[in-house]
Amino acid sequence: MAKKIIITIDGWSSCGKSTLARQLAKSLNYVYIDSGAMYRAITLYFLRNHTDWTDEKEVTEALSNIHLHFEYNNKSSQSEIYLNDENVEYVIRDLVIAEKVSEVAAIAAVRAFAVAQQQKMGAKKGIVMDGRDIGTTVFPGAELKIFMTADISVRVTRRYKEMYAKNPNISIEEVKNNLEMRDYIDSNREVSPLRKADDAIVIDNTNLTTDEQLKQALKLVHEAVPNL
Ligand code: DC
Repeated sequence: MAKKIIITIDGWSSCGKSTLARQLAKSLNYVYIDSGAMYRAITLYFLRNHTDWTDEKEVTEALSNIHLHFEYNNKSSQSEIYLNDENVEYVIRDLVIAEKVSEVAAIAAVRAFAVAQQQKMGAKKGIVMDGRDIGTTVFPGAELKIFMTADISVRVTRRYKEMYAKNPNISIEEVKNNLEMRDYIDSNREVSPLRKADDAIVIDNTNLTTDEQLKQALKLVHEAVPNL
């Protein structure tokens, strides 16, 4: 049987991490896990249940009532996240969630909860996971670590197009402010801040098409594991 590896993709918000992760998983027949979806689903639960996330006890209590899992959807050809058995894959993409998720993801108990589950999902390898701390904290021993980056203006335009399709009232300033705020909180928090792992390889996709970025990444996969 072919050797299976763990591939981690970290980087700034809206750098195209999930697009590349999905492409790689499809090409290699691997599982793709969007770790950000877990932090978004937890944020959704906190907002719906009026959890005061500045209160440690409330956070612990709320986390004990949260069950997250991913299920592959044949129609969308992707794995989708479930919060206590409800498919929340689409609701969690709202700006309301994007505005709070970095605050929630900075809480140590929330991270411990999510990281433990992410590590279990990678136990059998054959996985591509994207996020902010996957190569540094979740899978520090991963065989291939990619760190993605792109110019802020390109990132804002990409995210704006995505969000505008769902909500034409959204402004480009709102999207830009949200990206900059999340990048700031994600890279300055105390627990597992976003940073490039020393052994991660940078892909800057500012001027790359999705096909070109996949080609580059597949080359890295074959360099990392020549007889894959
Ligand atoms: O990848 P995303 O934009 O859906 O992630 C949403 C937020 O979740 C992001 O702003 C920071 C947080 N996150 C994190 O702290 N660690 C991860 N591994 C993934 C996401």
